[in-house]
Amino acid sequence: MRKLIVQHVSKQFGGLRALNDVSFETENEILGLIGPNGAGKTTLFNVISGFLKPTAGEVHYNGQSLHRYRPHRIVALGLARTFQIVKPFGDLTVLDNVLSGYGMPLYRRPKAFFRRYHTPVTERAADEILALTDLTEYRDALAESLPIGVQRRLEIARALATQPDFLLLDEPAAGLTAHEAESLAELIRTLHARGKSIIVIEHNMAFAMNLCQRILVLAQGELIAQGAPADIQSNEQVINVYLGKR
Ligand SMILES: Nc1ncnc2c1ncn2[C@@H]1O[C@H](COP(=O)(O)OP(=O)(O)O)[C@@H](O)[C@H]1O
Ligand SMILES: [Mg+2]
Repeated sequence: MRKLIVQHVSKQFGGLRALNDVSFETENEILGLIGPNGAGKTTLFNVISGFLKPTAGEVHYNGQSLHRYRPHRIVALGLARTFQIVKPFGDLTVLDNVLSGYGMPLYRRPKAFFRRYHTPVTERAADEILALTDLTEYRDALAESLPIGVQRRLEIARALATQPDFLLLDEPAAGLTAHEAESLAELIRTLHARGKSIIVIEHNMAFAMNLCQRILVLAQGELIAQGAPADIQSNEQVINVYLGKR
C-alpha cells in the first residue's frame, strides 16, 4: 500500500542525461534526497509528479503505473509535491491559496475553480491546516506579501489541502532561519507521525541527517548511495562527490 516504486528512470534533456537509470522504493518513511546542485533531484520530482515524462523507466504508486498520468491525476491518487521555487497565487490570500489545494485533484486550473471550495467544511479543514503549519496569523494576508520562510510553509499547506498520503518536498528549508528550519523539521515529523510518507530534498546535511530515516544520494543523475544517515555520512563515494566539496 502507498508504496512508491521508481524503476530504471532516465531523463534526457537533449545531450544532457539529468537522470540515469534511477531505481528505488519507499514507503512510510521520511526519505531524504541529497546531492550537489544539478544532480537531478528536482527532475526526479518532476518525473514522479507527472510534470515531465521519463525518457525511460516507470514510476509506480500504490500498485499503479503513473505512466502518462498528468499531474492533477497523480495528485488525485494522493501524491502531492511542493516546488523549490515557491509558486503561491500571489494575489490570493493565504486561506484562498490553501483552499485552491482542494480543487487540485479535480481541476487542472485550481485558481479558476477554487471558489467552489469556499464552503464551511473546506474552510474548517483549511483552518486546521493553517494551524498545523503555523500560518493562522497570516490567514487573510496576500501570499505575495509574505517573507520566504512563510511562503515555504504555505507551499506545504496548499499541498496538504489536496489530502495527500505522500508528499514530495523540494528544498522546503531553503532560505529559512535556523529556528524556522527546526519548526519545519518538527512539522515534517508530525506529518509522518500522522501517516504520511515523505521525500524531502535538502541541501543542509545536518538538517537531512537529523530529520530523515533513510537517505538517497544523487550525483550527476545517478543514485550513488542509499541507506541510513550514519552509513551515508561515512560512505566514501558520497564524501568525495558531495560532502568533501562543502
Ligand atoms: N526542463 C529542463 N530542460 C533542460 N535541462 C534541464 C531541465 N530541467 C533540469 N535541467 C538540467 O538537468 C540537470 C538537473 O537539474 P535539476 O534536476 O534541477 O537538479 P537539482 O534539483 O539536483 O539541482 C541540470 O543540469 C539542469 O540544468
Ligand atoms: Mg532542485
